[in-house]
Amino acid sequence: MGSSGNNSPERLKKAPAAVKEVPMSEVNETADPRPRTDDSVAFFRKSWSVYDALVEWNYMFHREIYAAVSDWLRERRDLSAGSFLDLGCGNGRVLARSLESAPPARYTGVDLSAEALAEAREYLGGLPGVELIQADMLSFLENGSAASFDVVFSGFALHHLGVEEKQRLFQAAARRLAPGGAFLLIDVVREDSETRDEAVAAYIQDMRRGWTRMAAADLENACAHVAEYDFPESVNRLVEMATRAGLIRHQSLASHGRHEARVFYASDSVETGSDGK
Ligand SMILES: C[S@@+](CC[C@H](N)C(=O)[O-])C[C@H]1O[C@@H](n2cnc3c(N)ncnc32)[C@H](O)[C@@H]1O
Repeated sequence: MGSSGNNSPERLKKAPAAVKEVPMSEVNETADPRPRTDDSVAFFRKSWSVYDALVEWNYMFHREIYAAVSDWLRERRDLSAGSFLDLGCGNGRVLARSLESAPPARYTGVDLSAEALAEAREYLGGLPGVELIQADMLSFLENGSAASFDVVFSGFALHHLGVEEKQRLFQAAARRLAPGGAFLLIDVVREDSETRDEAVAAYIQDMRRGWTRMAAADLENACAHVAEYDFPESVNRLVEMATRAGLIRHQSLASHGRHEARVFYASDSVETGSDGK
């Protein structure tokens, strides 16, 4: 493969979106034993066409998961006047489709990758009130402005953080929710009974078996990225983290293999939907 070729999606309108640069010196490193470096996002920096192609081939169930996200967004009564924060937004290509039918008044996308944000400017350009910020998502939440958001969203990015960082992200996200707000998380997950290494090995095995349309070199790069930088948690572990952060109600939106979409509601949320699982 090497490029998305015929899978290249149509670009939305050229964007008026402004990219606000946040210097990496402001990024707050943590005591997590696995230091986060630029290398952890190098795959996305170099390989957006590869990522776009695997999304189009639906290897990570983006189609079903983002369809459920679209439905959930449409059901939220007040988003047209509300604010939406996207942590690890990447190039925003898939989410842009979901937001087209339920556009928020303000969209803020945060990503470490300048290359991804440059593409996001185009994909998200049809939305009103777009702001794109190059920053570490945890640092942005903990140290950025005090703005609150009606929806905090993160798609397939949380598993790049260490355990302690994930807990901090839940806590910081909960603090940033406006009254009635929700944290919508999409991520790769593992079984409770699996270690991280077992889960990653199983995921890589699935990739080698199922990602058959991907060129061999691209598949090897993708597997190497997963082996080194993916730290999925179990759904129960994520729920525990959310509960500790005060997000006491939750709802599964979609669950496909090792890919989960789940909404966590703040305790004073008025919009119901917890399945309590
Ligand atoms: C798999 S892509 C997901 C893109 C998109 N959200 C989706 O659902 O398809 C993960 C994105 O998270 C970003 N990312 C990883 N760690 C990050 C961090 N600590 N802070 C900000 N962005 C991060 C990467 O640069 C990449 O763009």
